[in-house]
Amino acid sequence: MEYKIVPLTEEHVSGIKLIDDLCFESPWSLKSFKSELSNPLAVYFVALMGEQVIGYCGYWWVFDEGQITNIAVHPDYRKMGIASKLMDEMVKKCSVTDVYSLTLEVRVSNKPAILLYEKYGFKKVGLRPKYYDNKEDALLMTKEIEQVG
Ligand SMILES: CC(C)(COP(=O)(O)OP(=O)(O)OC[C@H]1O[C@@H](n2cnc3c(N)ncnc32)[C@H](O)[C@@H]1OP(=O)(O)O)[C@@H](O)C(=O)NCCC(=O)NCCS
Repeated sequence: MEYKIVPLTEEHVSGIKLIDDLCFESPWSLKSFKSELSNPLAVYFVALMGEQVIGYCGYWWVFDEGQITNIAVHPDYRKMGIASKLMDEMVKKCSVTDVYSLTLEVRVSNKPAILLYEKYGFKKVGLRPKYYDNKEDALLMTKEIEQVG
């Protein structure tokens, strides 16, 4: 399957909104995604198969830390390594921009995501009790990023 990873631009916003709707109980609004385009802290990538957005990820670049806002892959294209490619792209970007760590929150019940993060060397560093709307706890995970060059 051929696809490429590219930085997010305006033409991809409706595609990532579709994926968000398919993936999350409380998806972001289209407006929230659009405002990320002009957020100087936001770094987003999309996986594109032809013109179709099949996955996306992003983080907020805050000083020397990246805070992952999301990573999601269209249900029809999971378990094919797409999230891994997206993760590679974020790590690569951090490694050349003096971003020394990536952090994220994930639902304690979200096994696939937790396994993905562990595969990428994220460590469990804390718990935010009742963090989500349904009172589910969030696991806080972080990964150190080695700088290149
Ligand atoms: C989590 C998610 C992004 C993974 O995307 P993906 O493209 O299927 O992931 P990959 O194919 O790159 O898999 C990478 C690793 O993730 C883990 N993983 C992914 N899906 C998994 C599953 N269903 N069960 C167990 N582990 C899984 C595995 O460790 C896998 O490595 P392996 O293939 O060597 O076993 C995808 O399931 C998704 O979009 N989920 C809904 C959105 C979401 O919950 N995002 C995280 C919010 S914090």
